[in-house]
Amino acid sequence: MKPFYITTAIDYANGSPHLGHAYEKVLTDVIARFRRQMGDQVHFLTGTDEHGQKVQATARKQGVSPQEFVDGISAQFEALLPRLGVTNDDFIRTTEERHKAVVCRLLQQLFDQGDIYLAEYKGYYSTRQEQFLQEKDRQSDGSWPELFGEVTEITESNYFFRLKKYQPWLQEFLAAHPDWIFPRFRHAQVAEFLKEDLNDLCISRPRERLEWGITLPFDAKYVTYVWFDALVNYYSAVADRPGVWPATWHVIGKDILVPPHAVYWPAMLHALGLPLPGGIIAHGWWSIRGSKMSKSTGNALDPLTLVDEFGADAFRYFLIREMNVGQDSDFTREQFLVRYNSELANNLGNLVNRTLNMTTRFAGGAVPAAADLLDLDRELRALWDKTRDEFLPLCEGFQFHTALERAMFFLTETNAYIEKRAPWKLGKSAEPADQALLRTTLATMAEALRLAVSLIRHVTPASTERIHAVLGYTPGPVWRDELVWGGKLTGAKVAEALVLFPRPAPPTASAKPEKKG
Ligand code: MSP
Repeated sequence: MKPFYITTAIDYANGSPHLGHAYEKVLTDVIARFRRQMGDQVHFLTGTDEHGQKVQATARKQGVSPQEFVDGISAQFEALLPRLGVTNDDFIRTTEERHKAVVCRLLQQLFDQGDIYLAEYKGYYSTRQEQFLQEKDRQSDGSWPELFGEVTEITESNYFFRLKKYQPWLQEFLAAHPDWIFPRFRHAQVAEFLKEDLNDLCISRPRERLEWGITLPFDAKYVTYVWFDALVNYYSAVADRPGVWPATWHVIGKDILVPPHAVYWPAMLHALGLPLPGGIIAHGWWSIRGSKMSKSTGNALDPLTLVDEFGADAFRYFLIREMNVGQDSDFTREQFLVRYNSELANNLGNLVNRTLNMTTRFAGGAVPAAADLLDLDRELRALWDKTRDEFLPLCEGFQFHTALERAMFFLTETNAYIEKRAPWKLGKSAEPADQALLRTTLATMAEALRLAVSLIRHVTPASTERIHAVLGYTPGPVWRDELVWGGKLTGAKVAEALVLFPRPAPPTASAKPEKKG
């Protein structure tokens, strides 16, 4: 089995999870499940980033210790995962000993080999971003951009990583690996950043300014800069598992590509003599009704409200169907309902209802064997082959939104096939030819449904399982074999009904919509 190690960004443990965090976990889960289904040996890591100024400040404000504070937040992030149907193999917290020990080991190695040195530094420091700024960061009027918050000039001794020394190597590496960053257009952004001379990276913070961090193994007066600590999680989590590192993909948001993931991380790994990850997937950002999600404006969407109302699969389906990986998207409840109603309730839900209902009414609840095929049946089978053959490469290239569009088109055409055949009319006829056609139609509907939900299983795992169950079907061990049209349901006993995607309560209703299991 091919090893496939995939990670998400580790979320800051200074606020509750929102839609953006949930999206990244779901996207990574869809990739992880897809690779598992394709036969890879998947290891899937996520976790929380728990050190740094912001955590220290928020904990202080709340009158609790930083450790107590991050324990609470990290638990929220971890508890969200099963609610989203996310199948991570491990959850790492940067306050865990297993992580801290590896960070110290790597820092010591870099220090011993001369890649970390002490120097006096005078410069402008942004507390909000926890970083030193450069002249080029100023706006044209000389002021600092809003995102840096309060900026103060400070002089202090600090430890530096020789980032500059690795710049030519990094430029060459990226030029030689144009597919290292997905989507490709983000490559240009990194190349642009690397056109200017890099400064060495300040990797320490004096204890008097920041206590909440990993103490430098070679100087207890300092703690580690939060990014130098956080990036290491990808490696520390698997350091004692032979054969897992390097990661195949790091999935992150576009905001943390340059410089942390595309510049600091490869330079750190290269300096340490460790292999580089296979690549980085930088996804876009969700806005809510056109505006940036933020705690201060109060429009951060809690993913659990949607999961409670519509179920995890509908939530996953929407996120993956709506967003083109790498581009931004806007979330509105209206758009969510449009897809929920038209694609899940009407298109898929209808096919489920019709299949169960017609098989129960006209075939005593057992899927009949197909009789002779006519053009209409052959066309649907051909469309299936085409759909599957396009779907798999689209998923391999992370084009999940287009892949789902193809799957939906197949469902639409299956429903159209049923309209044309009108099994409800055939069922009333005693003619042997009509009866034969009815059997073929019922067999075709059931098989098309089985195939379509097998195909989207990595996106809607629970619904696929439930639909397979009501079709009296147990999937075999090899996913690709499941995707071949082949009367696998002949003789299967189907359930009479299944309500998978119930109509939501109208928006005016004051009662909270019922929870779905
Ligand atoms: N702790 C750092 C990551 C360290 S990785 C070694 C961090 N944390 S974060 O909580 O701010 O963000 C975690 C992830 O969520 C990032 O990949 C970020 O891009 C993503 N998102 C945060 N808001 C988002 C949206 N509005 N939309 C989509 N993803 C978003 O950065």
